[in-house]
Amino acid sequence: MSGLRIEEVRAREVLDCRGNPTLQADVITKNGIMGRADVPAGLSTGAYEAKELRDGGERYGGLGVRKAIKNVTEVIGPAIKGMDATDQRKLDYLMIELDGTPDKSRLGANAILGVSLATARAAANALGVSLYKYINVNAHVLPVPLVNLINGGKHASNDLEFQEFCIFPVGADTFGEAMEISAAVNLELRELIIDRYGKIAANIGDEGGVAPPITNVREAMDCLVLAVERSGYAEKIVYGLDCASSHLYDKETGLYHLEGNQLTTDEMIDYLRELIESYPIVTIEDPLSEDDVEGFRKATEKLPIQIVGDDFFCTNPARIRDRAKLKAGNALLWKVNQIGTLSEAIDAAELAFRNNYGVMVSERSGETEDPIIADLVVGLNAGQIKTGAPVRGERTSKYNRLLQIEEELGPVARYAGKDFKIPF
Ligand code: PGA
Ligand code: ZN
Repeated sequence: MSGLRIEEVRAREVLDCRGNPTLQADVITKNGIMGRADVPAGLSTGAYEAKELRDGGERYGGLGVRKAIKNVTEVIGPAIKGMDATDQRKLDYLMIELDGTPDKSRLGANAILGVSLATARAAANALGVSLYKYINVNAHVLPVPLVNLINGGKHASNDLEFQEFCIFPVGADTFGEAMEISAAVNLELRELIIDRYGKIAANIGDEGGVAPPITNVREAMDCLVLAVERSGYAEKIVYGLDCASSHLYDKETGLYHLEGNQLTTDEMIDYLRELIESYPIVTIEDPLSEDDVEGFRKATEKLPIQIVGDDFFCTNPARIRDRAKLKAGNALLWKVNQIGTLSEAIDAAELAFRNNYGVMVSERSGETEDPIIADLVVGLNAGQIKTGAPVRGERTSKYNRLLQIEEELGPVARYAGKDFKIPF
């Protein structure tokens, strides 16, 4: 279909929710249809992620993306002009080849991903279908949101070491109900935090959760559990954590810093085992560092819950293949900008599914209002999404898009609920 040929590719600098610049790409087809996508940015990043290209120098503290924009308009644009926008894989692999590095550092993962996602959107728009349907004709699963209500780690100005304390409303009947529950618990939690720690404690972290001056993991869990009880939804909610342990790990000593102690890998696993014996926690992300493969394998063997690899896998098919063979982890945190093209990210999800791993689609802490991951999580029938607290536009844009999708799918929509890991 010649109308679907790519006619023009544009990019510009826009701001993410931290006020840092990021790249927005437009792909325009011959028949004048546009797809637009924003590139998100991590803060608690894994060492093995594809590399975004930043300008350095004075502007925006070195975070400008003009070089990446130039690569979009002067290198990628001319190379893909005339290609069919539905040739996603061909286009993604052409960009990988043009870049020529294993981590996309020459053209920039931000340049490549912006074009990759904008192309998928352009194709879907040109065909007049929603992106989730364009990706998968059988898309019908609405994910359980892992809602991050208490922020710590690199995402908050407190001394709470674990990064994310989340509720997981697996007992809701619909995605809409899951949002209702999450908003109610969030309001209860805010009140409780203000009562206990004063109103300054209800200021929020990067992902919209409260960031109280708590240093103890159990104290944070107790607040969450009490807020859930007060909301009246306790029977519908279980819990999840992101330890983001790569950032607690001391490479020199091989020990984890937690609550004033230095823990070995085995001690960390014991700590987590006691924690999941005390609270109904069903999913833990990055319980150990990105390089602690043996630790991850042990944690997966010893903890009877979902063990999610974020920094550990970096949405990288090769890492997933190697580490799944060792039974390290049993779920993938899926962040499309960790690998840099939609095609490779879909490969990563497929590889995870085929290894019986769960797949949790995730935002980054540095998001814009672009809701694209909402379409992607439904397109993958992944069953789980992590996109922050149910507040702040860059988080609610994803939740609100999922509410639209649930309505659009109507009676065939299925909320993953307790089947979040294998939602069929
Ligand atoms: P990031 O962290 O987006 O700041 O890298 C999110 C996470 O660790 O899940
Ligand atoms: Zn993480």
